[in-house]
Amino acid sequence: MTEALPAELTIEQSIDLKPYNSLSISAVAEYFCVVDHIDQLHRALNFAHKNKLKVTPLGGGSNLVIASDISGLVLQINLKGLTIKPVERDMLDICFSAGENWHAMVSHCLENGWYGLENLALIPGNMGAAPIQNIGAYGVELCEFLQSVEVVEVATGKVLTLSCEDCEFGYRTSIFKQAAKDSYIITAVTLRLSKMPRVNIEYPSLKASLTSDQPTPKEIYQAVCKIRRSKLPDPAEIPNVGSFFKNPIVQSEMAANLAVDYPELPIYPYSVSSSKLAAAWLIEHCGFKGCRRGDVGVHPHQALVLVNYQGNGSAILALADEIKLQVLQTFSVELEIEPRIYGTIT
Ligand code: EPU
Repeated sequence: MTEALPAELTIEQSIDLKPYNSLSISAVAEYFCVVDHIDQLHRALNFAHKNKLKVTPLGGGSNLVIASDISGLVLQINLKGLTIKPVERDMLDICFSAGENWHAMVSHCLENGWYGLENLALIPGNMGAAPIQNIGAYGVELCEFLQSVEVVEVATGKVLTLSCEDCEFGYRTSIFKQAAKDSYIITAVTLRLSKMPRVNIEYPSLKASLTSDQPTPKEIYQAVCKIRRSKLPDPAEIPNVGSFFKNPIVQSEMAANLAVDYPELPIYPYSVSSSKLAAAWLIEHCGFKGCRRGDVGVHPHQALVLVNYQGNGSAILALADEIKLQVLQTFSVELEIEPRIYGTIT
């Protein structure tokens, strides 16, 4: 059954979200629409307000666990396009619409000589999701480039622009996962890039994979793509959401104690008093790497990645709980789930 609203917005009922999430979980959205234009977003929000429906936005669906059917209106944000504004010296600001694919934009920027995003190649998902968890990889985080985020406030339909400071970025977190969770729909992201190559090869496995110590941005992009392809499963082939847990941040004193008992545990400095531990190592050392529990499991090449062979959200979350408990009992370290969980956990 479909209900057409003025102009081209179509709101459908009882739609399976399986094609819209990279874990390939089947779950039904009570109402669903694809938003191609900003006008449609305003219309969709009006429809939700009028009918007292909860609004759930989806981007590429690559950082999401759907735990149950979703009541209310699910919006797939498919806004496209980019605009470029030169700023001082060799810099330029590029405003990307939220529905643009992240990796396609990284490649587009490199081809045009707009540098900075090479280390973030091949991260799945769309532009609009990138600020939510402040995506990061191989020594670089999104917040280093972010100028502003354009949002529509769900409650009022107001268009607002948030600065980088407003976004309260941290390691895999932002205001969109904290105080402003569920408050805004991200419609565009502006990044400041450089016309001069600016390379960062500090991340050990990246440095080790490069033949030159003065690589070009293209060489970095290629190296990152190669490492990711060798370790991380392609969601189109084996459904996954990338890292399922954050790397835990603990007091440095605790990290020092763990280092005595487990000298091979990778530990990175985080702040003056805290350190970051490699969650993948903790999980692997609890024996989960490559394990299978029915139709879900842990990837054989990266213990931080849970994979869905043919299971559902509950099976994935049950395996995540088993891993969390075992890591806590073994190392006294609490793991935190990285993707958003939508729906109700049963
Ligand atoms: N390791 C293991 N077992 C494994 C995998 C890794 O012991 O199965 C060890 C490695 O030997 C290494 C350490 O863990 O010493 C770190 O491994 P890796 O470089 O693969 O990075 P990570 O900490 O596991 C993080 C991000 C990834 C990102 C990489 C590279 C988080 C939660 N994850 O993973 O991000 O690609 O660094 O920068 O911070 C994502 O967020 O979806 C994601 C893939």
